[in-house]
Amino acid sequence: MTTDRLMALDLLVSVLAAAAWVSAGVTAAARRPRTAAALFAVALVASLARVWTVLALAGAGWWFVQEKITVALPLLVAAGGVATAIAGPRLLRAARRADAASRDAVRAPAVVVPLLGAGYAAAAGIVQTFLIGYPADPGTALLLLAVAAGAVLGTWRAMSTHVPGLRTATAATAVAAVLGAALVFVPFTEETTAEGSAPGGAAAMAATGSSSHVHSAEGGSASAMGAPARPVTDLRGPAAPPPGGAVRRFELTARMATVTLSSGRKVSAWTFDGQVPGPPLTAVQGDLVEVRLRNADITSGVTLHWHGYDVPSGEDGVPGLTQEAVPPGGEFVYRFVAAQVGTYWYHTHEVSDLGVRMGLYGTLVVAPKGTAATGLDLTLPVHTLGGVTVTGDRDQPLVRQAAPGTPVRLRLINTDNTPHRFTLAGTPYRLVAVDGTDLSGPGTLGRAGLRLAAGGRYDLAFTMPSGPAVLRIDDRTDSVRLTPASTGDGSAGASATATPDPGAVPAAVPAAGSPTADWPELDLTRYGAPAPTPFTSRDRFDRDFTLVLDRGFALVNGRPTYAHTVNGHAFPDIPTEVVREGDLVRLTVVNRGRDTHPWHLHGHRVLVLSRDGRPVTGSPLWLDTFDVRPGEVWKVAFRAANPGLWMNHCHNLSHADLGMMLHLAYEGVTTPFHGAHGG
Ligand code: C2O
Ligand code: CU
Repeated sequence: MTTDRLMALDLLVSVLAAAAWVSAGVTAAARRPRTAAALFAVALVASLARVWTVLALAGAGWWFVQEKITVALPLLVAAGGVATAIAGPRLLRAARRADAASRDAVRAPAVVVPLLGAGYAAAAGIVQTFLIGYPADPGTALLLLAVAAGAVLGTWRAMSTHVPGLRTATAATAVAAVLGAALVFVPFTEETTAEGSAPGGAAAMAATGSSSHVHSAEGGSASAMGAPARPVTDLRGPAAPPPGGAVRRFELTARMATVTLSSGRKVSAWTFDGQVPGPPLTAVQGDLVEVRLRNADITSGVTLHWHGYDVPSGEDGVPGLTQEAVPPGGEFVYRFVAAQVGTYWYHTHEVSDLGVRMGLYGTLVVAPKGTAATGLDLTLPVHTLGGVTVTGDRDQPLVRQAAPGTPVRLRLINTDNTPHRFTLAGTPYRLVAVDGTDLSGPGTLGRAGLRLAAGGRYDLAFTMPSGPAVLRIDDRTDSVRLTPASTGDGSAGASATATPDPGAVPAAVPAAGSPTADWPELDLTRYGAPAPTPFTSRDRFDRDFTLVLDRGFALVNGRPTYAHTVNGHAFPDIPTEVVREGDLVRLTVVNRGRDTHPWHLHGHRVLVLSRDGRPVTGSPLWLDTFDVRPGEVWKVAFRAANPGLWMNHCHNLSHADLGMMLHLAYEGVTTPFHGAHGG
């Protein structure tokens, strides 16, 4: 069973156990021994099942069961055991006789209180898992214990005038509550966590400041760590291109506008230059890209972040960390060398959830040097705008003609917060690049569903067939329809000499109009051919960070929130990951929750080492955004070779907004800005 299924099953049995214990108590109090005994049996079975689900989940990793094994199960087993020992025999005896006397007997506190108590304990475990989340700590455990014990005492007191040892028990409960609250709310626990979770305690402390992780220039810690202090504002792109490169100048003005989609539908949006997506930016490898950003009237401010592009940190467009957000009337000039080839995108990083959703994004495509563009090359950013799925600025299929034999490249970009599934029918094709990086030995695909993470990119390549080819999104929206055109010499497409040899077409290639929902999802970790990588999972890692993703109550920018958490904290209280230039860094990302988290590190591509313990057996995967689905554990690694201060966050930007983001900082790099980016 997958970890995800196991988590769902565990939730089911825990709810069942809590409900059955409480119902058994309530029916006993209502003098119905037979029903109460039956519910007691259900509760007992569900509780034992819960022990099994938790032990099975433990096989997926301690992260998945930490709070269950330390808090939920001990509570359940102790309270369930007491209920079974004390209430069980009386209940069964009464159920067997079922006369008036035994009906009265089961409403006694000795039956009802233990049953309800087991219910309270079971419920406390659920609260721990879903409201408090990972990890359980002594403070919250004590608080939960106090609440459950208080409820037992309250119930008992309501049922009888004499509760033995009531004073002592009440006092003990109050002490537990106060102690728990102190552990939870007194800030010293925070710092202990911050130091403990980042390697190199002193360095981590210095770079994270005293209690949060503001990288202030005043920290004065950089020299103490041996690295010269460098403000992030010094880490900028060059003024001139490297030899042989051209300067590509662009100007983008952010402003509100009403955009008209291809159907004529109007949507009010936040735009670059009045259009959504913003103007496409293109360059040739080795060019210097210079983009002057102006803000006309976006009152919350705007920046440009180059998603997947490893620009110098000072060009990364993170407000409060690498620059101030550009206010209305302001401007900022970005400069970087187009070193990476491939498909990327840009977007605002100020109030980015709202800003990107409203339209502040566009594409960035860098062509390799010295290759003349041939064939049909379409850049296709997919977005949900005004409630409809658009490809570029079209809410209807893009229809293009291409002569059979024409090389076609489709650059898919997911600019939404959630994954999209793409299918291509009518032609065999290859997935040639992921997140801008070419794959090694990508094989031919036919009936495949391509799940593209939020923020991610896929480049598909094929030769235009003699029939139509259709790209579809989420098995329902036709995005692109390519139809064969007559070739240059005027002969009809179907008879053109360039028609691919039918023998080369796998039998699995479906017709353009066919339903796609049942096409199996391509597993990228097994696609393509292995190739050498600069490091592997067998290397020694200088830094090892684990990010456990969950939900729970936490402070987000000072506000108590049902947050998306990392290791039990929400931004800005998640300890910064500190690295030194040259380090080989491993990240383990664990998803304990019910949501998918497209994890995105700025400024670096990461090499996937394994998913759920299984190594990548196909092409090496260099990603900037990897989709961590419920129950999954990803191990990825990168070389820290781009000094700066970087965001490391979930690219479901509404999750980021609810706390799921942190910083990765190179030792010695400081920021003159407030340092607590919240965008
Ligand atoms: Cu495309 Cu910080 O994000
Ligand atoms: Cu997320």
